[in-house]
Formats: sequence, structure tokens, C-alpha cells
Amino acid sequence: MHSNTRDSFKSKFGAIAALAGSAVGLGNIWKFPYEAGSNGGGAFLIVYIFFTLAIGFPVMLAEFSLGRRSQRNAFGTFQTLAPKTKWFLFGILSIIAASLILSFYGTVSGWTLEYVWLSLSNAFKDQSAEDINTIFNTFISHPYKAVLWQTGFMLLTGAIVMAGIQKGIERYTKIMMPLLFIIIIALSISACTLSGSRKGLEFLFFPKFSELTADSILSALGQAFFSLSVGMGILLTYASYIPKNDNLVGISLKVIFTDTLVAILAGIAILPAVFSFDIDPQAGPGLVFLTLPKVFQSLPAGQIWAILFFILLTFAALTSAISLLEVPVAYLVEEKKIRRPLASLIATFAITFLGSFNTLSFGPLKEVHLFGMSFFEACDYLCSNILLPIGGILICIFAGWYLNKAILYSEISNNGSLKIYFFKLYVFILRYIAPVCILLILLNVLGILNK
Ligand code: PFF
Repeated sequence: MHSNTRDSFKSKFGAIAALAGSAVGLGNIWKFPYEAGSNGGGAFLIVYIFFTLAIGFPVMLAEFSLGRRSQRNAFGTFQTLAPKTKWFLFGILSIIAASLILSFYGTVSGWTLEYVWLSLSNAFKDQSAEDINTIFNTFISHPYKAVLWQTGFMLLTGAIVMAGIQKGIERYTKIMMPLLFIIIIALSISACTLSGSRKGLEFLFFPKFSELTADSILSALGQAFFSLSVGMGILLTYASYIPKNDNLVGISLKVIFTDTLVAILAGIAILPAVFSFDIDPQAGPGLVFLTLPKVFQSLPAGQIWAILFFILLTFAALTSAISLLEVPVAYLVEEKKIRRPLASLIATFAITFLGSFNTLSFGPLKEVHLFGMSFFEACDYLCSNILLPIGGILICIFAGWYLNKAILYSEISNNGSLKIYFFKLYVFILRYIAPVCILLILLNVLGILNK
């Protein structure tokens, strides 16, 4: 298949919905609150917002420019823009990183599906925080239940990618994203009415910088990259579907604004409940699944809220998972000439198989450790804290140093609408500030600067 047979987004709103659909997902609602909870709350939030704007934004814009220019997938982009060089290896790194992320993303998405089911059967009614804890822990450590839900979720993802994602994504994200937004606003308002909610809000909004460690700064950077979907060629692939006359700066800012707002709203919805119900803010990946059922209990028609919320969370996860699966699938289709249905099947099954180790690492494989972490933790750490930052550095080097600046300018400015001094500032950030910041943080955490 060649680039001119590809779909492109039908409308600008469709493009933004699809890009925001990739960015807004479990990262905002499931991951952000527990990352903030484990890394000092308010101080984490400030560092997170700083990284989003100062580093995430320039890298996102660079990815958009590369993809829209090349009109190809992550691998093909580097072959087009840097022929006869080793840059294609970066394309391969992107494919590996996206597949690894999806392997643990599918685990949590499977949990979300189980929670749709539990909400439908009203399993949280009148349960204490401790009971809810037990429900969660029994489920995730079950020898196969969680793997079945994960497989179900992956099949759903595979089916949409198989059918061609443009129609599916553009159509569904336009409906699902606004709905998710309304529900999360409603939930955060009701969470604020809980007794003890003040403590949660203080925890999120009053920074205690003494709690910031080198590791939590890296986590904020990793979380910013993960949440924005930058650093691994996803946005680059999606950008190849953005019409030529759409303004990339405007689109990036809209995606970033939506993504950050949803993360903060999720923090507001979850952290007050953490303090009201005496749950440990450092509970890790289970935090959302332990706190929200308690919030739902305190609402009139709580069961309906629970069902709606977990269904919408599943859709938010789906629109992100599709963008992740599209990376290996687009590679297999365009570079290996495998037909899309078969390519989707291969990628879905390979990633589900890999992902089952992550899922089982909460149960039967609990005792198996890599570098002192479970499979799940190791996979998340490797992707979010190492591969995404490395991907970010490579994007900066490619767009800032290697790529012809006239190409970069014409993509970003839509042929002349951007003041030249803004562009110079942008290139300066891309060349020096962003990659050096990312590198310093990375080296610091790997312990290389401290030796
Ligand atoms: N940004 C998504 C989220 O926050 O849930 C997850 C994600 C999607 C990460 C796509 C990376 C990616 F390439």
C-alpha cells in the first residue's frame, strides 16, 4: 500500500479528536493520579506541567512535522526523509516501544473491562474500602481471569485496526471524548464534596518541593511523554493523515490542553477520595480501581455512574490502544506488504502473548523479578522512563539538526504564517534545551551523573 491510498482525517475536528483520543487514555485517568500520589502530589504536578509545555510540546510539533511531511508510517518516514542512513533504526525502536507499551496497556484495559462487568452486577454496593481492596486483589492475582479480559480487549482493538482505523477512530472519538469529559467533570465535582476532600486537593495543588527526588522528576517527564503519546512515532503516523492546510501549532496546543486538563480532573476526582477513605496515595496501579468504587457509592444512582465511567474509560483506552497497535500494523502492511487483516492478527496475538506475562505478574508470576521489579513494573519503567525519553531525544536531534530547516519551517508555519523569530526560538529549544534536559534527567536517574 502506498501513501496516496491512505485515508486522511475528514475534518480538523476529526483530526484533533483522533489525536486527543490517542493522548487521553489510561495515562491520564489511571496513571497520572497514582504517579502524582507516589511522587509528592503538587510538586509533581508543577514539574509535569513544565515538562509538558517545555519539552512535550516542541517534541510533539516535531513529530507532527515529520509525519505530515513524509506521509508515511514511523519506519517509512525516516527512509523518506533520511534515505541511506541508519535513522530507520529509530523507526524500529518506535515499533518495539509501541508494542511493549500496548503489552502492559492491555493489562490495565482488561481490568477496566472487568470493572464494567462488576459495575453491571452491582458488586461494589455497600462494600467497605477493605472489601473493595480484596475484590481488586483477588481479581488481579487470579490465574487466568485477567488474561481473558486482556485478550478480549486486545481482540476489540485488533478488530478496529483490522477494519481500517480512520472511520472507526474519527467517528467514535468524536462522540466518546466529549462524553468522557462530562463524566470526569461531574465526578471531580462530587469528589470535592466528600468529607476530607480538602486534604486530597491540598496534596495535589500545594507543592512540597522537598518530596521531589531525581526519580520523581524522571517520572514526571516519562508521564508527560506517555500521556501525550510522544516519543515513539505514534503522533508521527497520525500526522501523516492531517490535511496539508491544517495548522500544526494550533492542533498541538489543543491536544496538549485537553490531555493536561483531563489528567488534572482525574487527580481531582481521585485524590480527595484517597484521603476520605483512608486509602494509601502510593497504592500504585490499583489506585483508581480502589478509590472510584467508593466515590460511586456516595453518589445517587452510583451504579449507573460506575457503569458509565468504566465503559467510557474502556473507550478512552481503546482509542489509545488503537494508535499503539497501528504502529506495528502500519509497518507490516506498508513495509512487509502483509495484508491489513493478517498484519492486525499477527500484531494482536504477538502483543497479547507478551502482555499476558505482564498481567500474570500480579498473580502467578508475582515472584519473578527483573532488576528488582515485576514484569509489569519493568515493562512500564523501560518504556515510560527510558524508551520514550530516548525517542524524544532522537526526534529532537533529527528535526533540530538533521532535517532541512526549510522543510521544518514550511510544515510548522503552513508556508509562512509563523514569525521567523518564533521559529528560531523553536529550533533553539529543539536543538539544545529539550534534548539536553531529557538527557540530564535520564543520566541522573541511571546513576551516571552521580558516579
Ligand atoms: N497517551 C495514552 C494515555 O495517556 O493513555 C497512552 C499512549 C498512547 C502512550 C499512545 C503512548 C502512545 F504512543
